[in-house]
Amino acid sequence: MRLIVAITGATGAIYGVRLLQVLREAPEVETHLLVSDAGVLNLHQELDMGRKEVEALADVVHNVRDVGAAIASGSFQSEGMIVAPCSMKTLAAIAHGLSDNLITRAADVVLKERRRLVLMVRETPFNLAHLRNMTAVTEMGGIVFPPLPAFYHRPQNIAEMVDHTLGRVLDLYGLAHHLAPRWRGMGE
Ligand SMILES: Cc1cc2nc3c(=O)[nH]c(=O)nc-3n(C[C@H](O)[C@H](O)[C@H](O)COP(=O)(O)O)c2cc1C
Repeated sequence: MRLIVAITGATGAIYGVRLLQVLREAPEVETHLLVSDAGVLNLHQELDMGRKEVEALADVVHNVRDVGAAIASGSFQSEGMIVAPCSMKTLAAIAHGLSDNLITRAADVVLKERRRLVLMVRETPFNLAHLRNMTAVTEMGGIVFPPLPAFYHRPQNIAEMVDHTLGRVLDLYGLAHHLAPRWRGMGE
């Protein structure tokens, strides 16, 4: 299966990087990666990672400006796309069908082909534009998935919080994982 992964300039670059690391261990998944310019800034700021280091985690890398790439067409078959993390700018462009770069074009294609689009949107607090854009994407069939940590599994560190959230994302694609224990009810 093919999965498109995009890293944009919202804080939380770790979600995109960890997602790629996990998918690398899934031989059945071919990852197609896009990193925006602002995404690169945050990789440096938050993880001391450069573009090349992150791109090495993917099977195929696309340039965000290359709107002629295979993933810009509905004829490219995939299970869908995960934007991790997703900035409010990229959310807005997707919500309005702008297709102004390869990230927003690929997302547009995933929506028009009725494939699965997960946007790990990150901002706080939200203004009305953010909320309306999330509604619009939801109405189009996309999944708005803010990476909000849970605490009921008593995470011991950031890595456990991140993995718990990413496990829920992988569940949406039916991908097997052992990122976090599943809730078995109170007191179990
Ligand atoms: C350190 C840093 C943190 C940022 N965090 C956020 C954020 O959490 N959410 C957001 O929507 N934008 C955030 N931004 C702003 C976006 O990077 C900016 O809007 C950019 O134009 C997004 O472009 P892109 O969607 O093409 O990556 C942040 C920028 C920087 C430099």
